[in-house]
Amino acid sequence: MDQKIKNLVKAETKRQQEQLTLIASENYIWPEAQSYLASSLTNKYSEGYAGKRYYPGNQIIDEIEQLAIERAKKLFGVEHVNVQALSGAQANLIIYSALLATGDTIMSLALDQGGHLSHGHSASWTSKLYKFEHYQLNAQGSIDMMALAKQAKAVKPKLIVAGFSAYSREIDWASFAKIAKSVGAYLVADISHTAGLIVGKAMKSPAEHADVIMTTTHKSLRGPRGALIMCRKELAQKIDQAVFPGLQGGPHDNVIASIATTLALDTGKAWQSYAKSVVKNAQSLAKALQKLGYEIVSGGTDSHLMIIDLTKQKISGKEAETRLADIGILVSRSTIPHDPRPPYNPSGIRLGTAAVSTRGLGVKEMQQLASVIDRALKNQTKAKLRNEIKTLAKKFPVQLA
Ligand SMILES: Cc1ncc(COP(=O)(O)O)c(C=O)c1O
Repeated sequence: MDQKIKNLVKAETKRQQEQLTLIASENYIWPEAQSYLASSLTNKYSEGYAGKRYYPGNQIIDEIEQLAIERAKKLFGVEHVNVQALSGAQANLIIYSALLATGDTIMSLALDQGGHLSHGHSASWTSKLYKFEHYQLNAQGSIDMMALAKQAKAVKPKLIVAGFSAYSREIDWASFAKIAKSVGAYLVADISHTAGLIVGKAMKSPAEHADVIMTTTHKSLRGPRGALIMCRKELAQKIDQAVFPGLQGGPHDNVIASIATTLALDTGKAWQSYAKSVVKNAQSLAKALQKLGYEIVSGGTDSHLMIIDLTKQKISGKEAETRLADIGILVSRSTIPHDPRPPYNPSGIRLGTAAVSTRGLGVKEMQQLASVIDRALKNQTKAKLRNEIKTLAKKFPVQLA
Protein backbone atom coordinates (compact mmCIF):
# COMPACT_ATOMS: atom_id res chain seq x y z
CA MET A 1 0.00 0.00 0.00
CA ASP A 2 1.34 3.43 -0.93
CA GLN A 3 0.68 4.96 2.46
CA LYS A 4 2.04 8.37 1.44
CA ILE A 5 -0.37 8.83 -1.46
CA LYS A 6 -3.20 7.22 0.52
CA ASN A 7 -2.74 9.75 3.32
CA LEU A 8 -2.50 12.66 0.89
CA VAL A 9 -5.74 11.65 -0.85
CA LYS A 10 -7.41 11.31 2.55
CA ALA A 11 -6.21 14.80 3.50
CA GLU A 12 -7.49 16.25 0.21
CA THR A 13 -10.90 14.59 0.71
CA LYS A 14 -11.07 16.12 4.21
CA ARG A 15 -10.12 19.54 2.80
CA GLN A 16 -12.89 19.30 0.19
CA GLN A 17 -15.39 18.32 2.89
CA GLU A 18 -14.41 21.16 5.25
CA GLN A 19 -14.02 24.01 2.77
CA LEU A 20 -16.62 25.55 0.48
CA THR A 21 -15.68 25.90 -3.16
CA LEU A 22 -17.09 28.84 -5.08
CA ILE A 23 -14.63 28.16 -7.92
CA ALA A 24 -16.94 28.44 -10.92
CA SER A 25 -15.36 25.57 -12.87
CA GLU A 26 -15.54 23.07 -10.00
CA ASN A 27 -18.21 20.64 -8.86
CA TYR A 28 -18.47 17.23 -7.18
CA ILE A 29 -18.63 14.21 -9.48
CA TRP A 30 -21.62 11.88 -9.01
CA PRO A 31 -20.32 9.08 -6.71
CA GLU A 32 -21.53 6.35 -9.10
CA ALA A 33 -19.76 8.03 -12.04
CA GLN A 34 -16.62 8.28 -9.91
CA SER A 35 -16.68 4.54 -9.19
CA TYR A 36 -16.20 3.64 -12.88
CA LEU A 37 -13.00 5.72 -13.08
CA ALA A 38 -11.30 3.09 -10.93
CA SER A 39 -12.72 0.14 -12.92
CA SER A 40 -11.03 -2.50 -15.13
CA LEU A 41 -11.81 -0.35 -18.17
CA THR A 42 -8.62 1.58 -17.57
CA ASN A 43 -6.65 -1.52 -18.68
CA LYS A 44 -8.02 -1.56 -22.23
CA TYR A 45 -6.56 -0.11 -25.44
CA SER A 46 -9.23 0.79 -27.99
CA GLU A 47 -7.83 3.19 -30.61
CA GLY A 48 -10.48 3.87 -33.25
CA TYR A 49 -14.26 3.85 -32.98
CA ALA A 50 -16.98 1.26 -32.31
CA GLY A 51 -16.73 -1.57 -34.85
CA LYS A 52 -13.45 -0.13 -36.27
CA ARG A 53 -10.83 -0.57 -33.55
CA TYR A 54 -7.12 -1.14 -34.00
CA TYR A 55 -7.03 -3.67 -31.11
CA PRO A 56 -9.04 -6.84 -30.39
CA GLY A 57 -11.28 -7.42 -27.37
CA ASN A 58 -13.32 -4.25 -27.71
CA GLN A 59 -16.87 -5.59 -28.01
CA ILE A 60 -17.85 -4.40 -24.53
CA ILE A 61 -15.96 -1.12 -24.89
CA ASP A 62 -17.92 -0.53 -28.12
CA GLU A 63 -21.20 -0.91 -26.21
CA ILE A 64 -20.06 1.47 -23.47
CA GLU A 65 -18.90 4.15 -25.93
CA GLN A 66 -22.09 3.78 -27.95
CA LEU A 67 -24.19 4.25 -24.80
CA ALA A 68 -22.28 7.44 -23.94
CA ILE A 69 -22.82 8.73 -27.49
CA GLU A 70 -26.54 7.90 -27.61
CA ARG A 71 -27.16 9.47 -24.18
CA ALA A 72 -25.29 12.66 -25.18
CA LYS A 73 -27.20 12.88 -28.48
CA LYS A 74 -30.52 12.64 -26.67
CA LEU A 75 -29.62 14.98 -23.80
CA PHE A 76 -28.17 17.76 -25.97
CA GLY A 77 -30.43 17.23 -29.02
CA VAL A 78 -27.55 16.86 -31.48
CA GLU A 79 -26.84 14.63 -34.48
CA HIS A 80 -23.31 13.43 -33.77
CA VAL A 81 -21.14 13.17 -30.65
CA ASN A 82 -17.50 12.29 -30.10
CA VAL A 83 -16.87 11.30 -26.47
CA GLN A 84 -13.13 10.60 -26.68
CA ALA A 85 -11.54 14.07 -26.25
CA LEU A 86 -9.48 14.06 -23.08
CA SER A 87 -10.20 17.60 -21.92
CA GLY A 88 -11.60 20.95 -22.98
CA ALA A 89 -8.54 22.88 -24.17
CA GLN A 90 -7.50 19.92 -26.31
CA ALA A 91 -11.05 19.54 -27.64
CA ASN A 92 -10.97 23.14 -28.86
CA LEU A 93 -7.71 22.55 -30.73
CA ILE A 94 -9.23 19.37 -32.20
CA ILE A 95 -12.20 21.38 -33.49
CA TYR A 96 -10.01 24.08 -35.06
CA SER A 97 -7.82 21.43 -36.71
CA ALA A 98 -10.89 19.60 -38.05
CA LEU A 99 -12.44 22.64 -39.68
CA LEU A 100 -9.59 25.02 -40.59
CA ALA A 101 -6.23 25.31 -42.29
CA THR A 102 -3.42 26.69 -40.16
CA GLY A 103 -3.27 30.48 -40.42
CA ASP A 104 -7.05 30.83 -40.83
CA THR A 105 -8.82 33.55 -38.86
CA ILE A 106 -10.90 32.77 -35.74
CA MET A 107 -12.97 35.29 -33.78
CA SER A 108 -13.37 34.79 -30.02
CA LEU A 109 -13.94 36.79 -26.86
CA ALA A 110 -10.76 38.29 -25.41
CA LEU A 111 -9.41 36.39 -22.39
CA ASP A 112 -9.51 39.44 -20.08
CA GLN A 113 -13.24 39.78 -20.86
CA GLY A 114 -14.23 36.17 -20.22
CA GLY A 115 -12.74 33.99 -22.99
CA HIS A 116 -10.57 30.90 -22.40
CA LEU A 117 -6.85 30.36 -23.03
CA SER A 118 -7.71 27.89 -25.80
CA HIS A 119 -9.66 30.65 -27.57
CA GLY A 120 -6.41 32.10 -28.85
CA HIS A 121 -4.54 33.59 -25.93
CA SER A 122 -0.97 34.52 -26.84
CA ALA A 123 0.37 31.91 -24.38
CA SER A 124 -1.67 29.10 -26.00
CA TRP A 125 -0.55 27.05 -29.02
CA THR A 126 -3.93 27.84 -30.59
CA SER A 127 -2.69 31.39 -31.25
CA LYS A 128 0.48 30.10 -32.91
CA LEU A 129 -1.49 27.96 -35.35
CA TYR A 130 -4.41 30.29 -36.15
CA LYS A 131 -4.91 34.04 -36.40
CA PHE A 132 -7.23 35.26 -33.66
CA GLU A 133 -9.29 38.44 -33.71
CA HIS A 134 -10.94 39.08 -30.35
CA TYR A 135 -14.34 40.63 -29.90
CA GLN A 136 -15.15 42.73 -26.85
CA LEU A 137 -17.79 43.46 -24.24
CA ASN A 138 -19.65 46.78 -24.30
CA ALA A 139 -19.52 49.36 -21.50
CA GLN A 140 -22.30 47.49 -19.64
CA GLY A 141 -20.21 44.33 -19.61
CA SER A 142 -22.33 42.42 -22.18
CA ILE A 143 -21.28 41.01 -25.55
CA ASP A 144 -21.64 43.79 -28.09
CA MET A 145 -23.46 41.92 -30.90
CA MET A 146 -23.59 44.97 -33.22
CA ALA A 147 -19.85 45.54 -32.89
CA LEU A 148 -19.26 41.80 -33.33
CA ALA A 149 -21.24 41.79 -36.61
CA LYS A 150 -19.24 44.77 -37.88
CA GLN A 151 -15.92 43.22 -36.88
CA ALA A 152 -16.86 39.90 -38.53
CA LYS A 153 -17.53 41.70 -41.81
CA ALA A 154 -14.13 43.38 -41.58
CA VAL A 155 -11.94 40.42 -40.56
CA LYS A 156 -13.89 37.64 -42.36
CA PRO A 157 -13.26 34.80 -39.89
CA LYS A 158 -13.54 31.16 -40.93
CA LEU A 159 -14.77 30.29 -37.44
CA ILE A 160 -16.42 32.16 -34.55
CA VAL A 161 -16.13 30.84 -31.01
CA ALA A 162 -19.08 31.66 -28.77
CA GLY A 163 -17.63 30.31 -25.57
CA PHE A 164 -16.83 31.69 -22.19
CA SER A 165 -15.04 31.01 -18.91
CA ALA A 166 -15.94 34.20 -17.12
CA TYR A 167 -19.07 35.67 -18.71
CA SER A 168 -22.27 35.59 -16.70
CA ARG A 169 -24.99 36.47 -19.17
CA GLU A 170 -27.35 34.46 -21.39
CA ILE A 171 -26.02 34.01 -24.94
CA ASP A 172 -27.94 35.17 -28.01
CA TRP A 173 -27.21 32.00 -29.99
CA ALA A 174 -29.49 32.98 -32.91
CA SER A 175 -27.61 36.26 -33.47
CA PHE A 176 -24.25 34.51 -33.22
CA ALA A 177 -25.43 32.03 -35.89
CA LYS A 178 -26.74 34.82 -38.13
CA ILE A 179 -23.44 36.68 -37.94
CA ALA A 180 -21.40 33.52 -38.59
CA LYS A 181 -23.59 32.63 -41.56
CA SER A 182 -23.35 36.14 -43.01
CA VAL A 183 -19.56 35.81 -43.34
CA GLY A 184 -19.47 32.07 -44.14
CA ALA A 185 -17.87 31.11 -40.80
CA TYR A 186 -18.46 28.04 -38.65
CA LEU A 187 -20.07 28.76 -35.28
CA VAL A 188 -18.52 26.83 -32.38
CA ALA A 189 -20.34 26.98 -29.03
CA ASP A 190 -18.00 26.25 -26.13
CA ILE A 191 -20.51 25.58 -23.34
CA SER A 192 -17.96 24.05 -20.96
CA HIS A 193 -19.21 26.12 -18.03
CA THR A 194 -22.94 26.05 -18.62
CA ALA A 195 -23.69 22.62 -20.16
CA GLY A 196 -25.30 21.31 -16.95
CA LEU A 197 -27.54 24.38 -16.79
CA ILE A 198 -28.44 24.04 -20.47
CA VAL A 199 -29.48 20.37 -20.21
CA GLY A 200 -31.30 21.29 -16.99
CA LYS A 201 -33.25 23.88 -19.01
CA ALA A 202 -32.05 26.77 -16.84
CA MET A 203 -30.21 28.37 -19.79
CA LYS A 204 -30.74 28.42 -23.57
CA SER A 205 -29.30 25.69 -25.78
CA PRO A 206 -27.13 26.40 -28.85
CA ALA A 207 -28.16 23.04 -30.41
CA GLU A 208 -30.25 24.58 -33.21
CA HIS A 209 -27.71 27.27 -34.01
CA ALA A 210 -24.11 26.05 -33.69
CA ASP A 211 -22.18 23.92 -36.19
CA VAL A 212 -20.13 22.41 -33.38
CA ILE A 213 -20.73 22.35 -29.62
CA MET A 214 -17.99 21.53 -27.14
CA THR A 215 -18.32 21.00 -23.45
CA THR A 216 -16.10 19.73 -20.70
CA THR A 217 -17.82 17.07 -18.59
CA HIS A 218 -16.44 17.96 -15.16
CA LYS A 219 -17.95 21.38 -14.45
CA SER A 220 -21.71 21.96 -14.18
CA LEU A 221 -22.42 18.45 -15.57
CA ARG A 222 -20.91 16.77 -12.45
CA GLY A 223 -18.98 14.20 -14.47
CA PRO A 224 -15.35 13.04 -14.73
CA ARG A 225 -12.66 15.18 -16.41
CA GLY A 226 -13.24 14.92 -20.16
CA ALA A 227 -15.01 16.59 -23.06
CA LEU A 228 -17.79 16.07 -25.60
CA ILE A 229 -17.57 17.36 -29.16
CA MET A 230 -20.99 17.53 -30.80
CA CYS A 231 -21.82 18.47 -34.36
CA ARG A 232 -24.08 18.17 -37.38
CA LYS A 233 -23.85 14.89 -39.31
CA GLU A 234 -21.95 16.52 -42.21
CA LEU A 235 -19.04 17.41 -39.94
CA ALA A 236 -18.92 14.07 -38.09
CA GLN A 237 -16.12 12.47 -40.08
CA LYS A 238 -13.89 15.57 -39.91
CA ILE A 239 -14.33 15.82 -36.13
CA ASP A 240 -13.80 12.10 -35.49
CA GLN A 241 -10.63 12.03 -37.60
CA ALA A 242 -9.27 15.12 -35.85
CA VAL A 243 -9.72 13.39 -32.48
CA PHE A 244 -8.24 10.07 -33.61
CA PRO A 245 -5.78 9.77 -35.28
CA GLY A 246 -5.38 13.58 -35.54
CA LEU A 247 -4.53 14.57 -31.99
CA GLN A 248 -5.07 11.55 -29.75
CA GLY A 249 -4.29 7.87 -29.39
CA GLY A 250 -6.29 5.48 -27.22
CA PRO A 251 -9.43 6.83 -25.55
CA HIS A 252 -9.81 6.67 -21.76
CA ASP A 253 -12.53 4.02 -21.61
CA ASN A 254 -12.97 4.28 -17.84
CA VAL A 255 -13.73 8.00 -18.28
CA ILE A 256 -16.14 7.29 -21.14
CA ALA A 257 -18.11 4.86 -18.93
CA SER A 258 -18.18 7.52 -16.22
CA ILE A 259 -19.41 10.12 -18.74
CA ALA A 260 -22.17 7.73 -19.90
CA THR A 261 -23.40 7.36 -16.30
CA THR A 262 -23.19 11.12 -15.70
CA LEU A 263 -25.35 11.77 -18.75
CA ALA A 264 -27.98 9.33 -17.46
CA LEU A 265 -27.97 11.09 -14.08
CA ASP A 266 -28.20 14.62 -15.55
CA THR A 267 -31.80 14.12 -16.67
CA GLY A 268 -35.37 14.60 -15.53
CA LYS A 269 -37.09 16.87 -13.06
CA ALA A 270 -34.50 16.41 -10.29
CA TRP A 271 -31.69 17.66 -12.54
CA GLN A 272 -33.82 20.56 -13.78
CA SER A 273 -34.51 21.53 -10.21
CA TYR A 274 -30.76 21.39 -9.42
CA ALA A 275 -29.95 23.57 -12.46
CA LYS A 276 -32.58 26.09 -11.40
CA SER A 277 -31.19 26.19 -7.86
CA VAL A 278 -27.66 26.85 -9.16
CA VAL A 279 -28.84 29.96 -11.05
CA LYS A 280 -31.12 31.12 -8.22
CA ASN A 281 -28.24 30.80 -5.75
CA ALA A 282 -25.90 32.75 -8.06
CA GLN A 283 -28.46 35.53 -8.44
CA SER A 284 -29.08 35.69 -4.67
CA LEU A 285 -25.35 35.79 -3.94
CA ALA A 286 -24.80 38.52 -6.55
CA LYS A 287 -27.67 40.63 -5.16
CA ALA A 288 -26.46 40.23 -1.56
CA LEU A 289 -22.94 41.28 -2.55
CA GLN A 290 -24.28 44.27 -4.51
CA LYS A 291 -26.20 45.35 -1.39
CA LEU A 292 -22.89 45.26 0.49
CA GLY A 293 -21.37 47.64 -2.08
CA TYR A 294 -19.64 45.20 -4.45
CA GLU A 295 -19.73 45.77 -8.18
CA ILE A 296 -20.68 42.78 -10.32
CA VAL A 297 -19.46 42.89 -13.94
CA SER A 298 -22.48 43.28 -16.29
CA GLY A 299 -24.65 44.08 -13.27
CA GLY A 300 -25.60 40.51 -12.37
CA THR A 301 -25.82 36.96 -13.67
CA ASP A 302 -28.04 34.61 -15.69
CA SER A 303 -25.84 31.60 -14.97
CA HIS A 304 -23.90 29.98 -12.14
CA LEU A 305 -21.08 32.56 -12.12
CA MET A 306 -20.30 36.20 -11.50
CA ILE A 307 -17.23 38.41 -11.63
CA ILE A 308 -16.73 40.86 -8.77
CA ASP A 309 -14.80 44.01 -9.64
CA LEU A 310 -12.80 44.88 -6.51
CA THR A 311 -11.35 48.16 -7.82
CA LYS A 312 -13.51 50.21 -5.44
CA GLN A 313 -12.47 48.07 -2.46
CA LYS A 314 -8.79 48.61 -3.36
CA ILE A 315 -8.02 44.86 -3.01
CA SER A 316 -6.45 42.91 -5.84
CA GLY A 317 -8.01 39.64 -7.06
CA LYS A 318 -5.03 37.68 -5.78
CA GLU A 319 -5.21 39.25 -2.33
CA ALA A 320 -8.97 38.59 -2.15
CA GLU A 321 -8.42 34.98 -3.26
CA THR A 322 -5.84 34.52 -0.48
CA ARG A 323 -7.95 36.16 2.24
CA LEU A 324 -10.95 33.98 1.36
CA ALA A 325 -8.93 30.78 1.05
CA ASP A 326 -7.59 31.53 4.51
CA ILE A 327 -11.05 31.18 6.01
CA GLY A 328 -12.11 28.17 3.88
CA ILE A 329 -13.89 29.78 0.91
CA LEU A 330 -12.27 29.06 -2.44
CA VAL A 331 -12.73 31.53 -5.31
CA SER A 332 -10.48 32.26 -8.27
CA ARG A 333 -8.91 35.57 -9.16
CA SER A 334 -10.22 36.96 -12.43
CA THR A 335 -9.58 39.79 -14.82
CA ILE A 336 -12.32 42.36 -15.31
CA PRO A 337 -13.06 43.82 -18.77
CA HIS A 338 -10.20 46.13 -19.84
CA ASP A 339 -8.33 45.23 -16.66
CA PRO A 340 -5.42 47.62 -15.99
CA ARG A 341 -3.80 44.93 -13.81
CA PRO A 342 -2.00 41.77 -15.08
CA PRO A 343 -3.83 38.36 -15.26
CA TYR A 344 -1.65 36.90 -12.46
CA ASN A 345 -2.85 39.60 -10.07
CA PRO A 346 -5.98 41.06 -11.64
CA SER A 347 -8.73 43.36 -10.37
CA GLY A 348 -11.48 40.85 -9.71
CA ILE A 349 -12.59 37.47 -8.46
CA ARG A 350 -14.88 34.90 -10.10
CA LEU A 351 -17.48 33.10 -8.00
CA GLY A 352 -19.73 30.19 -9.02
CA THR A 353 -22.50 28.30 -7.24
CA ALA A 354 -22.55 24.88 -8.97
CA ALA A 355 -20.60 23.04 -6.26
CA VAL A 356 -22.27 24.62 -3.22
CA SER A 357 -25.67 23.93 -4.80
CA THR A 358 -24.68 20.25 -5.16
CA ARG A 359 -24.06 20.27 -1.39
CA GLY A 360 -27.58 21.64 -0.89
CA LEU A 361 -26.84 25.23 0.14
CA GLY A 362 -29.73 27.53 -0.73
CA VAL A 363 -30.72 31.18 -0.87
CA LYS A 364 -30.48 31.63 2.92
CA GLU A 365 -26.90 30.35 2.92
CA MET A 366 -26.03 32.67 -0.01
CA GLN A 367 -26.88 35.64 2.25
CA GLN A 368 -24.59 34.21 4.91
CA LEU A 369 -21.80 33.59 2.39
CA ALA A 370 -22.03 37.17 1.09
CA SER A 371 -21.71 38.45 4.63
CA VAL A 372 -18.72 36.19 5.41
CA ILE A 373 -17.01 37.20 2.14
CA ASP A 374 -17.55 40.87 2.97
CA ARG A 375 -16.16 40.47 6.49
CA ALA A 376 -13.15 38.49 5.26
CA LEU A 377 -12.35 41.11 2.60
CA LYS A 378 -12.58 43.75 5.33
CA ASN A 379 -10.02 41.71 7.25
CA GLN A 380 -12.17 40.79 10.23
CA THR A 381 -10.90 38.15 12.68
CA LYS A 382 -10.02 35.10 10.66
CA ALA A 383 -10.54 32.48 13.36
CA LYS A 384 -14.21 33.42 13.81
CA LEU A 385 -14.90 33.41 10.07
CA ARG A 386 -13.03 30.14 9.61
CA ASN A 387 -15.27 28.55 12.24
CA GLU A 388 -18.39 29.92 10.62
CA ILE A 389 -17.44 28.32 7.27
CA LYS A 390 -16.43 25.03 8.88
CA THR A 391 -19.80 24.84 10.67
CA LEU A 392 -21.66 25.67 7.45
CA ALA A 393 -19.71 23.05 5.47
CA LYS A 394 -20.42 20.45 8.16
CA LYS A 395 -24.13 21.20 7.93
CA PHE A 396 -24.03 20.44 4.17
CA PRO A 397 -21.78 17.39 3.78
CA VAL A 398 -20.98 16.06 0.32
CA GLN A 399 -20.60 12.40 -0.60
CA LEU A 400 -16.93 11.98 -1.51
CA ALA A 401 -15.12 8.76 -2.39
C1 LIG B 1 -14.89 27.82 -21.80
C2 LIG B 1 -13.84 26.80 -21.52
N1 LIG B 1 -13.33 26.08 -22.53
C3 LIG B 1 -12.36 25.18 -22.34
C4 LIG B 1 -11.85 24.94 -21.09
C5 LIG B 1 -10.69 23.97 -20.93
O1 LIG B 1 -11.06 22.84 -20.26
P1 LIG B 1 -9.91 21.90 -19.61
O2 LIG B 1 -9.46 22.56 -18.37
O3 LIG B 1 -10.68 20.61 -19.39
O4 LIG B 1 -8.83 21.74 -20.64
C6 LIG B 1 -12.33 25.65 -20.00
C7 LIG B 1 -11.79 25.40 -18.65
O5 LIG B 1 -11.91 26.08 -17.71
C8 LIG B 1 -13.35 26.62 -20.21
O6 LIG B 1 -13.81 27.38 -19.21
